[in-house]
Amino acid sequence: MDKKNNYIDFGERGRFNTANKLNDLTGKEWIKFTKSWFIHRPPRRKTDEILHPAKFPETLVEEFIAFFSKAGGWVLDPFLGTGSTSIAAGRMKRNSVGIEINKKYFDTAASRIKKEKFSSQIHTLLGSSLKIDKILKQNNLENIKFDYTITSPPYWNQLERNSIRQKGRKEKGLDTIYSDYKRDIGNINSYEEFIEVQAKIFDKIFDLTKTLGYLTIITNNIYFEGKLYPLAFDTAVSLTKRGDKSWVLKDEKIWMQDDKALVALGVNNAWVGNRHHQYCLNFRKE
Ligand SMILES: C[S@@+](CC[C@H](N)C(=O)[O-])C[C@H]1O[C@@H](n2cnc3c(N)ncnc32)[C@H](O)[C@@H]1O
Repeated sequence: MDKKNNYIDFGERGRFNTANKLNDLTGKEWIKFTKSWFIHRPPRRKTDEILHPAKFPETLVEEFIAFFSKAGGWVLDPFLGTGSTSIAAGRMKRNSVGIEINKKYFDTAASRIKKEKFSSQIHTLLGSSLKIDKILKQNNLENIKFDYTITSPPYWNQLERNSIRQKGRKEKGLDTIYSDYKRDIGNINSYEEFIEVQAKIFDKIFDLTKTLGYLTIITNNIYFEGKLYPLAFDTAVSLTKRGDKSWVLKDEKIWMQDDKALVALGVNNAWVGNRHHQYCLNFRKE
């Protein structure tokens, strides 16, 4: 350790400043993550892991968790799916809580987590995040203040509506709706209502987050019946207009998916884009 300057030299990784308030990264690693876009090439998934139609790679979540929290911190995912965030948090030595409404995905998450030996606390809870405060209380977890939330909510009701990609999902044996539960926000048909209910869940998460804690929402704009629904943009704006529960929008990071095949959309007729990116929206509680 360079005592005068409070640096620890991690060799190839660079130098870690012991005054770093946010994470355990060196300056070199910190700067690398601040680029506004990224391409992520995760290791190939085992077939028993391709059980969710919209799963994000654990290795991608690990990179975000590494930036927005320290080892021993608490990470939340209110739309857990098959448990990628819990697994990433465990691997990164963070504690975590994940909430999932669909019993099938919840069971998959629980069995995937059981297969790994984590030294941190990993809580997987079945229920609706609309009632997150009650669920945490029932499980004696109501006193946790989260350092970081990373999640990917349903993209409105698009899993059900998007016919071309649906065909591919059906062929792979993947679900084309998440569930028929009333509280599954992917079953809300009105776009405006979806934006409001989604924002209500993040109001609750605001109360559960430490001051200066971060939130990352992975979502996208949606092209449907000839027009673009700016879901990612409306999500970003809606969370900043919640009175005393307003999140501060800090930035977007664009996840470039350069490994998706191009589909012939609108050829010789009209513009329809091949949407091969997703938005990672970063907010902070201030
Ligand atoms: C885009 S997926 C998340 C996938 C997850 N990131 C993964 O890697 O598996 C959205 C998830 O939210 C769940 N969900 C929808 N409404 C919910 C609610 N009210 N409370 C909790 N989970 C909900 C769905 O069942 C679905 O699994």
